[in-house]
Amino acid sequence: MSDFPPLSNCALKRLGFPPPHAYSPPEGPFYDPELYPDGTINLSIAENSLLSERLIEHFSRPITTLHIPHLRYRATLIKTTLPTVEDLLPQYINDHFNPRVQITRENSVTGPGIGALLAQLVWALAGEGDGILMSVPFYDDYVRDISHPSMATLVRADIPAKVNSLSEDVLPYLESKLLASERLGIKIKAMLIPNPHNPLPQVVPKEVIKGYALLAQKYNIHLIVDEVYGLSTFQSAYPPALNAKFESVLTFDLPSMGVDPSRVHVLAGPTKDFGASGLKLGLLISPKNPDLLKLIRPLLFATPISSVSDLLFARVLQDRPFVERFLADNRVALTEAYEFVAEWLMFHGLEFTRANAGVFVVVDFAPFLARISPADAYPMAKLDLGVAALVREGVFMKPTNLMADPIPTRFRLIFTQPRNTMALALRRIEKGVRCRRSTAPRL
Ligand SMILES: Cc1ncc(COP(=O)(O)O)c(C=O)c1O
Repeated sequence: MSDFPPLSNCALKRLGFPPPHAYSPPEGPFYDPELYPDGTINLSIAENSLLSERLIEHFSRPITTLHIPHLRYRATLIKTTLPTVEDLLPQYINDHFNPRVQITRENSVTGPGIGALLAQLVWALAGEGDGILMSVPFYDDYVRDISHPSMATLVRADIPAKVNSLSEDVLPYLESKLLASERLGIKIKAMLIPNPHNPLPQVVPKEVIKGYALLAQKYNIHLIVDEVYGLSTFQSAYPPALNAKFESVLTFDLPSMGVDPSRVHVLAGPTKDFGASGLKLGLLISPKNPDLLKLIRPLLFATPISSVSDLLFARVLQDRPFVERFLADNRVALTEAYEFVAEWLMFHGLEFTRANAGVFVVVDFAPFLARISPADAYPMAKLDLGVAALVREGVFMKPTNLMADPIPTRFRLIFTQPRNTMALALRRIEKGVRCRRSTAPRL
């Protein structure tokens, strides 16, 4: 007789998944200028610290809006007339995304973050062994939300490095992967694309999203567009060649394009724009698929948004002048932070993806890796040596091979740490790869 009480069949199939992250941060606390000056500077998580103090200042104002329903289950809170994110998040989207159909509590579902909502959405659209199709490179945490709870699989359309996977050139690759996957018995149920993209820090042009929607129509599948970086867009001195303006798929006239709007779903929310991912707030929007939302809404009853997050963020969202100023200043702060890092990268002659959105760039560290690894080392070995060298100097960054990047020597570098922290991180990187102390501008 086994010593262990049995697990479900689903759980048994999942044993060993997800595999441990190939690269994990070292032990000990992350850097903090006062608390942990020797801690590791974490440039691996897509967080934006540029205006954190301003948000903390807003949160720190005396709270006069805490009421007894905030202590009750969410079902009580949302039945009050107290302002909650249930109403305010749809309004945030109406104010800033210019949707064709007004977003309301009825055509959206709030939940504790984009990941949690995506997991439930995938569960509703795909079953065990079905596929969710994405181009590479992709945001690696999607794997978690695609595979659990639905047990679906992320099917990756490999795109050669010379093809811009955010241009219309990606579409034939998606279509042929969809067909190949079906031949292998993996039925594609949806395509997923973040716009603006992660890890590529760019807005995806409208024509490309339209191409995805037409493919979804052609093969009778769903399209999920993750627009969580929709308002974290900016213009800089170093824009991408395809410098598109962000247009939410919610603005598209899908029927006139020949696309049934009930197959198009959007994930969005304010936490990336406000550098407050830990508050766990997000919105799933499906203006023309009420039945789908009816199915998903109760799935979140057990894991709703905390009413403390709700209270604090509802107060922010009601302060519309604060929100407008914050979003505008965040774009300026992103521009400055990006240009600062871009100039350092150019100083060192490193290739990187030009950005007009998000909080990161993808950098080819090949010249740096060559300094610290044997010439005949395999790319994976070079990456391992690179990560170890940076960790030794107190910087942690993820190689994009974790994201199926076709270029095997790249890293995703988050540029939205406060300026002094960022400068220290760049100096530590220089030391890690044995560069002479840089005379890079402003470092
Ligand atoms: C494109 C994208 N979608 C979703 C998420 C996760 O969002 P949340 O923290 O709300 O689950 C991230 C976080 O980095 C992201 O980059």
